Amino acid sequence: MRGAFITLEGTEGVGKTTCLDFVRESLSAADIPTVVTREPGGTELGEKIRNWILEGNHGELSAETETLLMFAARAFHLDEVIRPALAAGRWVICDRFSDATVAYQGGGRRADKGWIKSLRAAVHAGLEPDLTLLLDAPVEVGLHRIRARAPDHFERENRDFFARVRAAYLELARDEPHRIKVIDAAPSLTEVNSRVSAHVTAFLGRFCP
Ligand code: TMP
Repeated sequence: MRGAFITLEGTEGVGKTTCLDFVRESLSAADIPTVVTREPGGTELGEKIRNWILEGNHGELSAETETLLMFAARAFHLDEVIRPALAAGRWVICDRFSDATVAYQGGGRRADKGWIKSLRAAVHAGLEPDLTLLLDAPVEVGLHRIRARAPDHFERENRDFFARVRAAYLELARDEPHRIKVIDAAPSLTEVNSRVSAHVTAFLGRFCP
């Protein structure tokens, strides 16, 4: 049986990394073998694309160029890491995936969402995450949390950009409530972890009955 594919999504500063550690520990406690990876990244090529984009020394990038770079990194990541791990029965926990392209390039940068949908179908037809945990918090909360770090290419964007990203994520969640679980990331870490835990437990019951 193939492993499950779990993704984590959200705007900046919502606590994805902490949540990811918590999910990995919960699955390890259930003796489930996991592979933890991220996008853009997860392969040598993907990490190069990630660094090149995030360092931001490239001047203006069009929404379309950003989109295609994300999908180029993703196609390789799927071939090299995600599909082989799932086929070997391991569970893949991925920090961001195609929903991020819909939210950031589609929502934030206003690239055509129909076009992104067609790229999604071309690059990973038949493979979508089995569970997506969408950490959601008001844009101001997230931006306040990241104010101390040097901003990357995306973090330099303004509040309206992140408001569009957040709205695009919430629209995806409304369209696919079975897959995408929205978790309020504004409360304390303990509270957020307990909500994440409830979703992971329910998913375990569905995926390995
Ligand atoms: P993060 O992994 O620290 O969240 O940083 C990755 C950044 O890349 C984040 O700002 C979101 C952005 N991103 C996109 O714009 N589109 C994508 O498809 C992905 C995967 C990430």
